[in-house]
Amino acid sequence: MGLGPADWQGKPVIAILNTWSELNPCHLHFKILAEHVKKGVLQAGGMPVEVPLLSLSESYMKPTTMLYRNLLAMETEEVIRCQPVDGVVLLGACDKTTPALIMGATSAEVPFLFVPGGPMLRGNWRGEVLGSGSDAWKYWDEKRAGRLSEEAWCEIEDGIARSHGHCMTMGTASTMTAVAETLGLTLPGASSIPAVDMAHWRMAAESGRQAVENAWRDLRPAQILRPESFHNAIVMDMAVGGSTNAIIHLVAMAGRAGIALPLEQFDEISRRTPRLADLRPAGRFLMEDFYYAGGLRPLLGQLLDLLNPDVPTVNGHTLRENLAGAEIFNPEVIRPRDKAIAAEGGTAILRGNLAPRGAVIKYAAMEPRFMQHTGPAIVFQDYNDLAARIDDPALPVTPDTVLVLQNAGPVGAPGMPEWGMLPIPKKLLEAGVRDMVRISDARMSGTSYGACVLHVAPESAIGGPLALVRDGDLITLDVASRRIDVKLSDAELEARRARWKPRPAPTRRGYQSLFLNAVTQADEGCDFRFLHAESPTPQPEIH
Ligand code: FES
Repeated sequence: MGLGPADWQGKPVIAILNTWSELNPCHLHFKILAEHVKKGVLQAGGMPVEVPLLSLSESYMKPTTMLYRNLLAMETEEVIRCQPVDGVVLLGACDKTTPALIMGATSAEVPFLFVPGGPMLRGNWRGEVLGSGSDAWKYWDEKRAGRLSEEAWCEIEDGIARSHGHCMTMGTASTMTAVAETLGLTLPGASSIPAVDMAHWRMAAESGRQAVENAWRDLRPAQILRPESFHNAIVMDMAVGGSTNAIIHLVAMAGRAGIALPLEQFDEISRRTPRLADLRPAGRFLMEDFYYAGGLRPLLGQLLDLLNPDVPTVNGHTLRENLAGAEIFNPEVIRPRDKAIAAEGGTAILRGNLAPRGAVIKYAAMEPRFMQHTGPAIVFQDYNDLAARIDDPALPVTPDTVLVLQNAGPVGAPGMPEWGMLPIPKKLLEAGVRDMVRISDARMSGTSYGACVLHVAPESAIGGPLALVRDGDLITLDVASRRIDVKLSDAELEARRARWKPRPAPTRRGYQSLFLNAVTQADEGCDFRFLHAESPTPQPEIH
């Protein structure tokens, strides 16, 4: 390695786990980012080593990065465990990367901190501000409705991702990096800094210095990750109108710390947490605006009475201390408490005879007329069935129809892809319809919107009630009473269940076989059963 005793003697070894890849545009700057972390480690008297890991690219991976979140978590844990490292810096940004790295590092029980990759700049098209994902879905529908030319669509593609960094709406990436900060796993303010801002490099170097100090202090994840920290993260998620995906990831991350997060905890916190951030897809602004408005610190500062602010964080100070003096610079983007956008967070946990173990809806980002809605179902048996028939002019669909997608869950798809924002049928798009009630056991992108009931558990592929729905069944969504039901008697449901047969499973090998045998349902975080924090993993034996 070309190293001598002066490089390592008496110095903590800090591993910089780098998820850089040329197939991951969100992490394109991570080679340079790692150099700034290294600089900080060296300044503080540590020995930095950069270690590459699997890169989960939301843009390109098929069928979904969610299939591979647990693989990256396992790789993170085992790389840390089997190498001689005293501390770890995690570099992540794109959606699943953040939870995967934190899950693995938590299980490895070594001092770590997280460096968020930062959001990209605002999109721009002909002077109009574009938001990642959200405007892609919006203009794709306009194109399908015949209102946007191919040329204009290509211009939008060019203008919607103007720099490196992760999606700059409050989608899954922004939500999860903000979760990491609220949990106390980043330096204060780190998650809001745009990827191309020079403050981002300064934060990276400071994180390197902090990692050395934390290695000397032997600051283990169990000292940071407490039930109160996860409570704080859920409060933040509701106040920013965060991604529904955060629910699954938070359950999985807490599971690694030995903490149970029942779905009802999300609903309870949502009901009493005001929405303060006016960020797309539920609002108007983007992460660059959020940073200029002060970022996450002043937003959390507005919520002290709802938080447990005396929890420790990785910089040695409590959350309360880290929030002291934070100011809102633009009250349009970050609302003061007395001018909240809404009194509630806007995410609800539903139960009913269609989802005995829960389902999720982000009602803040849908047309209000669907808060209570009953309509007849049109059922698609899987994604291929949906793709083949959704635009069929003969499909008997009206704006009141409830679109149902089966076999899109953790086992059924597999991997629970972001298919939950089912496309509006073309003939309704042409008639001006932009939202409908849709139900699935899939997830949806954090940049998506609409009356989409997601994460239905248990999923249809393992015999959940969603598998029993047929065309024409009446389905009722009632957000106020947190219900999702199909109008069928228990006897009829039982009769259908007795006739139900699982679809023949295709032969799987390798990682997909492991995934299907071990993945848990959405309400359990979709982690692997054997990775829960039930017993400590012994260190590898030395022979
Ligand atoms: Fe990476 Fe959206 S594609 S965060």
